[in-house]
Amino acid sequence: MDCSKIQTPLSYLAGKTYLVTGASSGIGQHLALLLDRLGARVVLNGRNEERLNDTLSKMDGKNHYIAMADITKIDCVNWLKDIGTKANSPLSGIAYCAGVHEFVPLRAYNSAALSLAFNQFTISMMDLFMASCKMKKADTLSLVLMSTLSAHQGITGNALYGASRATAESLCRNIAIEFAPRGVHCNCVAGGYMTGSNMTDSFVQQLGSDRISTIEQAYPLGFGHVADAAHMLAFLLSDSSKWITGQTFTVDGGSSIKGI
Ligand SMILES: NC(=O)c1ccc[n+]([C@@H]2O[C@H](COP(=O)([O-])OP(=O)(O)OC[C@H]3O[C@@H](n4cnc5c(N)ncnc54)[C@H](OP(=O)(O)O)[C@@H]3O)[C@@H](O)[C@H]2O)c1
Repeated sequence: MDCSKIQTPLSYLAGKTYLVTGASSGIGQHLALLLDRLGARVVLNGRNEERLNDTLSKMDGKNHYIAMADITKIDCVNWLKDIGTKANSPLSGIAYCAGVHEFVPLRAYNSAALSLAFNQFTISMMDLFMASCKMKKADTLSLVLMSTLSAHQGITGNALYGASRATAESLCRNIAIEFAPRGVHCNCVAGGYMTGSNMTDSFVQQLGSDRISTIEQAYPLGFGHVADAAHMLAFLLSDSSKWITGQTFTVDGGSSIKGI
């Protein structure tokens, strides 16, 4: 064996360009900062300019840049073309970390609310991933989706949110199959409750700290932090995971395997 060719797992990211949606807050922001520390170049997407600039100001590398956009309202092909021109290097991967959450108990169900949940997440994810597969220029393209435990569990108020992510996971499995011959690998991370995000901060406000403490008792390792998802996403973006595709990895402090 030629030991000089052994690389450390995340060194594969260095020098490559990755698009992170949702880079202005929470998981996407942490991932962008992690990719920066690992020597990758990051294209930062979100809607809030001030928070995107805040992420950028915390990065050491000089080649990152902001591609501010509402991801649900763009023409993905032209947007990715613009990104390719500005980056002047092919995209090696996309981490889809953008997302919003709204509690909608099924007693308040209507089809408009279901359409909204899918428009806000599933359709924009699929449009972006499909455009990137068709426009792929790098040798390999890593696509990763930030999903949720709610895609796999019944949680009151989370039916529409969970369904939008469950469908997205299913689409990712099919991207993995249909685009494998073109060097694409596509995976998902189903996250449990992580602190350090605007989304979970708003849960505390909506549910109250007593309810949040009760939920935490279902987590053998306690609540996570957005860094816990970011590390898994970085691994799945890197070529260390190039033979892994079509999978959903649960990152949840053991909550989904806990018995009564
Ligand atoms: N935190 C958790 O415990 C947890 C657990 C499981 C799954 N997740 C999932 O992980 C994803 C990220 O959550 P988070 O915790 O990081 O939440 P967060 O702190 O609220 O961040 C959400 C990010 O998504 C961006 N975003 C939302 N809608 C967008 C749009 N239309 N276009 C572009 N960017 C948009 C926001 O950007 P702007 O603010 O700039 O618009 C922000 O950067 C979500 O899909 C969430 O469901 C989170």
